[in-house]
Amino acid sequence: MKTVVITGISGTLGQALGAQYVRKGWRVVGVSRKDDLEGEYFTDLLVSPQTTVEDAQKLLEYDPDIILLNAGQIETEIGEGGVPLSEMVESMNRVNYTWPALVCLEAAKLKRNRPLDVITIGSIADGSPSAFGPVYHAGKIAIHYFVSGVGPIVYHANRNIRMRHYRPGAIYGPLAWAPVNRLNEKGYQIRAKRVQGAPSADTVARKIVKWIEDGKEWVGTYEEPFSFKIFKYLFTLAPNFFYKLQLLGWRKGSKFV
Ligand SMILES: NC(=O)c1ccc[n+]([C@@H]2O[C@H](COP(=O)([O-])OP(=O)(O)OC[C@H]3O[C@@H](n4cnc5c(N)ncnc54)[C@H](OP(=O)(O)O)[C@@H]3O)[C@@H](O)[C@H]2O)c1
Repeated sequence: MKTVVITGISGTLGQALGAQYVRKGWRVVGVSRKDDLEGEYFTDLLVSPQTTVEDAQKLLEYDPDIILLNAGQIETEIGEGGVPLSEMVESMNRVNYTWPALVCLEAAKLKRNRPLDVITIGSIADGSPSAFGPVYHAGKIAIHYFVSGVGPIVYHANRNIRMRHYRPGAIYGPLAWAPVNRLNEKGYQIRAKRVQGAPSADTVARKIVKWIEDGKEWVGTYEEPFSFKIFKYLFTLAPNFFYKLQLLGWRKGSKFV
């Protein structure tokens, strides 16, 4: 029987991913900070704070075929004037970046005679920083950089360990709504249109599972709006101009100015 370990199993995408693998007859080890989780979308529960190297090693003890580092956090609380809160920055950077990076490195040490795919879940929002979800974007681009930079070293050192990265777009559910906590009425309406038209977690999970199975790509991306691509190029090619655009965007779109 094949085994998949999925972090953030209690969340919107985690449940959908877990359900897909349960239906396929896999052993699904769901990882959560909650110790009272029940549901049909996992077969085993690992309660873990997901912080230390020892926590990372516990995931590997299940001898999985796939690890899906799906747990993630967005800015649900913000400080005065929309400024990020220190506690949230610490917690978000850990779950969005340092924790998945630790798991990848511990997996890289394994001596295996069959493949292990370690898949980090990022976001299409990682291409350019925005004032409307800045800490989230920073953590997501950090893990994307890490996988694209460290993954090739790991693969050539240990051909059975493949670090791969998947970038979903907005998924219908609460996380996609978080940026509205900084937006004014006009910005709210733009975001609402995007969230209300977002695909369900089941649709996104199906695409991710198929992408994993196909095994052709190292980095997978759900449909990316054209505007995201433009911002990404501007950020890379004209960083000072991009910053000025953000200053303007914040003045026009935030509820604090
Ligand atoms: N939803 C979207 O629109 C969207 C778009 C692009 C990318 N993504 C990415 O897709 C992944 C899943 O998103 P989702 O919508 O399913 O999010 P979600 O419903 O908020 O679920 C995320 C899960 O991660 C766990 N988690 C949150 N903060 C944590 C922390 N500090 N430490 C450890 N675990 C923590 C929580 O599980 P426990 O409380 O049980 O531990 C939570 O249920 C995330 O990485 C997200 O960034 C989502």
